[in-house]
Amino acid sequence: MISPVKALVFDVYGTLFDVNTVEKKCNELFDGKGKEISLLWRKKQLEYSFLRQIMGQYKTFKQITLHALEFSLQKLDIAYENDQLLVLMEAYTELAHYPEVENVLREMTDKKLAVFSNGSRDMLEPLINYSGLTKYFDNIISVDDVKQYKPSPASYTHVLNTLGLEREEILFMSSNGWDISGAKNFGFKTAWINRSHSPVEILNQHPDRIYEDLNGILEWK
Ligand code: LAC
Repeated sequence: MISPVKALVFDVYGTLFDVNTVEKKCNELFDGKGKEISLLWRKKQLEYSFLRQIMGQYKTFKQITLHALEFSLQKLDIAYENDQLLVLMEAYTELAHYPEVENVLREMTDKKLAVFSNGSRDMLEPLINYSGLTKYFDNIISVDDVKQYKPSPASYTHVLNTLGLEREEILFMSSNGWDISGAKNFGFKTAWINRSHSPVEILNQHPDRIYEDLNGILEWK
């Protein structure tokens, strides 16, 4: 028997929203190099969040996302203009949400629903408003409130303090293996949304459940 949880907490980028949606706009601006730009951009964005957390040199995820984009274009020897950067940063607030998301949220409204993201509010709020999903969430929680990036325990502590619940009363969902490992390490119940069909991270933090998309969490109703 799965013990009842009181809150479902969702990671945002890669879990609710497809970060590779930006590939199309990248292709338009940089003649067909969208896939390589999008993949390197996401990789660098995460790398910078980890490095800044370890160095104690916090910048917002919006700033990190812009820096990661600039690095990626330079790394790929792609010449760019400032207004092209702005177009792509705007595209980050108009990402597509995965097809099953709204139906799952609608089915789970008897629980407290929250998002928890590295994203700063100036990225998260426009994105979630654009998607039309704002009405489903009781809380939008950003690491920017405490300036501690995931997977630091300090970041997940912010979720606990915001929701006023015990760790085991929270089911945390992320498609990012590093994030679900951090949440497991912190003590949340965890459901890894393994969209990329990856192996489990070798971090001794095995997720409580593994699903290929968010439909799997309906068993927690
Ligand atoms: C998020 C990204 C890092 O926190 O997945 O939404």
